[in-house]
Amino acid sequence: MELFNKSEFNERRKKLYKKLSSGDIVIVPSAPTRYKSGTVEYLYKQDSNFYYLTGINEENCTFVMAKIGIKKYEALFIEENNPNIETWTGRRLSADEVKDINGMESVFYNDKCEDYMNSLLANGETLYYSYKQTGMNSPLDEDMNRIESLRKHFPNLTYIKNANQLIFPLRTIKSPSEVKAMEKAIEYTAEGVLNVLRKAKPGMFEYQLRAEIEYEFLRNGSRQPGFNTIVASGKNAAVLHYVSMKDVVKKNDLILIDIGADCCNYSADISRTFPSSGKFTGKKRDLYAALLDIQKTLIQFVKPGRSMREVDEKTIKLISKMLKSFKYIKDESGYFKYYPHSVGHMLGLDTHDVQGIQRKKPVLKEGMVVTIEPGVYIKEDSIGIRIEDDILVTKKGRRNLSADIPKEIDAIEDIMEG
Ligand code: GLY
Ligand code: MN
Ligand code: MN
Repeated sequence: MELFNKSEFNERRKKLYKKLSSGDIVIVPSAPTRYKSGTVEYLYKQDSNFYYLTGINEENCTFVMAKIGIKKYEALFIEENNPNIETWTGRRLSADEVKDINGMESVFYNDKCEDYMNSLLANGETLYYSYKQTGMNSPLDEDMNRIESLRKHFPNLTYIKNANQLIFPLRTIKSPSEVKAMEKAIEYTAEGVLNVLRKAKPGMFEYQLRAEIEYEFLRNGSRQPGFNTIVASGKNAAVLHYVSMKDVVKKNDLILIDIGADCCNYSADISRTFPSSGKFTGKKRDLYAALLDIQKTLIQFVKPGRSMREVDEKTIKLISKMLKSFKYIKDESGYFKYYPHSVGHMLGLDTHDVQGIQRKKPVLKEGMVVTIEPGVYIKEDSIGIRIEDDILVTKKGRRNLSADIPKEIDAIEDIMEG
């Protein structure tokens, strides 16, 4: 399913161009093919900045935009079909087909790329290159080597900056079509949740629960999960990103799932926790009910003008109070042992969307989508509970995009009972 039309991509590129000063050049390459082992590829996932601006899901492409003097330049270079490509990986889009998807006028094959780039780069002053920030001791990846080579070939480039600083602020605010894509991803995810609630029982392996979830993702139209599925039972639920899913579910386990289907490259991100027996009982029931109350309070706390830092601070207060009442901690400073993450993050083309902005705990604005995912992880009792919903910030408040995915105790028990 494609939810975006030419005008959506035209609009995004127009907004990007508005941010450019004379001498600015923006280069955004498509994601490289990544290999699982030897020549076996991972399923392709496009670079999020590249997809945002072009709507194209193919590799070996480069988007470029520049403002030199008052002249606008914009082009997309793609790989041309040839018999070898067609035999091994299938026909790629032609230049005309690409134009039809994203409304760009200048779509060329890669053999034209070098000349076009040479003349732009020789006249530019600031290069905004879209790259993934890496640490000072990590090996230089393909992008870093390319940037280094551009720096040497074009010493006229005074500044080389990350294009994220131009594109991320645009990606932060979701358009109605982007919200629609996320709603679809959430709809597929809901099917996965319902199916696993119906099928889960003690004795099953965690990976068998994963199968029940991802079967529904794919059956409904998701190409792949937005991130690695987490199914964690009992003590494994206290491991935040437990992805090995190798254990057998036991009789009195709580099972934590953290899952998200993908639609048009947009990801859902939902966590639910439920009892393997189908009934919440004893302390597990009380802890779940208390955390659910907190999660609902936090969702109501989301509104424009409030910052993610404030939501984090409120979460710590509420969870600390809860942990004290269950006698796990004596004062607030002890909360981190049982709640060692933040309350949420922005969501979109990346599951942890626009990370650079996210880390600064931004002020919420209409059109942002954030997750609200408080959790408590009690290793000594083999308990981990996380409840996560995807929240759209609206003009006056918020809309829970995943409100239909059951999380009330009665609702979960009813579905599990069958
Ligand atoms: N699924 C990863 C997260 O919740 O942040
Ligand atoms: Mn999650
Ligand atoms: Mn999340």
